[in-house]
Formats: sequence, C-alpha cells, structure tokens
Amino acid sequence: MAERNIAIVVGSLRADSLNRKLAHELARLAPAGLSFSFVEIGALPLYNQDLDGSPPQAWEDFRAAIRPADAVLFVTPEYNRSIPGVLKNAVDVGSRPYGHSVWAKKPGAIVTVSPGAMGGFGANHHLRQSCVFLDMPIMPQPEAYLGHMGDKFGEDGRLNDEKLAGFMTSFMAAFGDWVEKILRGPGELA
Ligand code: FNR
Repeated sequence: MAERNIAIVVGSLRADSLNRKLAHELARLAPAGLSFSFVEIGALPLYNQDLDGSPPQAWEDFRAAIRPADAVLFVTPEYNRSIPGVLKNAVDVGSRPYGHSVWAKKPGAIVTVSPGAMGGFGANHHLRQSCVFLDMPIMPQPEAYLGHMGDKFGEDGRLNDEKLAGFMTSFMAAFGDWVEKILRGPGELA
C-alpha cells in the first residue's frame, strides 16, 4: 500500500491545547502507511478577496502545504457552537482563488475535542457543512465528538484512558481505510 501523507489542521492556537494533544495522539495511534504533517493556521492574515491577485506569502505557504497532501485530518474545538474563527479563516484561504481550491476531492476526517459534555458536536457539523460544499469526502463513520476531555491526558501528553485510546486507534484505522477507498476510487476496496 502506498504511503499516504495526511495534513493535520488544528483549530486551536492555545499553547496547552487539548485538541493539539489529541492530534499528536491520533498521529501516534494511526496505522502504518499514514504519515502526518501539522499545517499551522495561526499566522494567516484574514481572508480578503481583494488580495486574490497579490496574495500574502502566508496564504501561499498554507495552500502549498495542503495541496500535496493526500488527505486532511481536522482536530478542532468548538467556539460558541461553531468552529473557531481562525479555522474558518484557514478553510476560506484554502478555498480561493475561485476554481483553485486546495480542498477539492481530498478525503478527510473531523474530530472535535471539548472539556464540556457535548464534545463539540456543533463545530463538527458546521465544519462538515463547509467540507461538503468544498467537495471533500469526509469520513461519515465513526464520528468523534470527544467530551469531558479536560482530564484525559497525562503529564507526558498521552491519553490516560485506555478505552478512549482504543477508540482513537480504531478511528484512525477506519480513517486509513477511508483514505484508501477514496483515493483508489469505487470498487477498489470491499
Ligand atoms: C469555548 N468553549 C466551548 N466548548 C464547547 O464545548 N462548546 C462551545 O460552544 C464553546 N465555546 C467557547 C467559546 C470560546 C470563545 C472559548 C475560548 C471557549 C470551551 C472550549 O471547549 C475549551 O476552551 C477548550 O479547551 C478549547 O480547546 P483547546 O484550546 O483546549 O484545544
């Protein structure tokens, strides 16, 4: 099986981000054959259509980092029942100029992480809505709305909950299968 390069986009800029910790764990628990690169979004100037003709270098760098990826894994908090503005900005920057979106046809998955009870369900589905429009096949199942995550990491940043680590391992195995299925096209995998 070909090595697949997965871009990880984290929707939090916080130094001690639960989402970033989880994203590192997802990379660690993933099956062989997937490699990961974190693509940062914190320094992207706000999207402004007037700049499409002379884009800021940071936009170009971001697009150049996403474009060669085989797939995208979003790991994000929920802000006010939606996605953080910084992540929406990155989605918008990657989607333009019109006709040159870096997202189209890339398989993806969305994981939302929250210390609260609802696991970022609202953010997860708002991001799915944008991804549908952007023609990204997002893995439908299993879903990952991870709630009560405030005490799930040890000092070393690793998940301290075996059951959850098991679920994340199976989630990443399913994601690997999903990426292969989408990239190879219909009929290639049972
Ligand atoms: C939040 N938080 C939050 N949590 C949630 O489950 N649903 C929500 O709608 C919100 N809304 C919200 C808005 C804003 C502006 C902030 C700053 C926070 C709490 C959020 O889940 C918590 O701060 C997480 O720890 C953020 O993720 P990271 O930074 O730890 O990855």
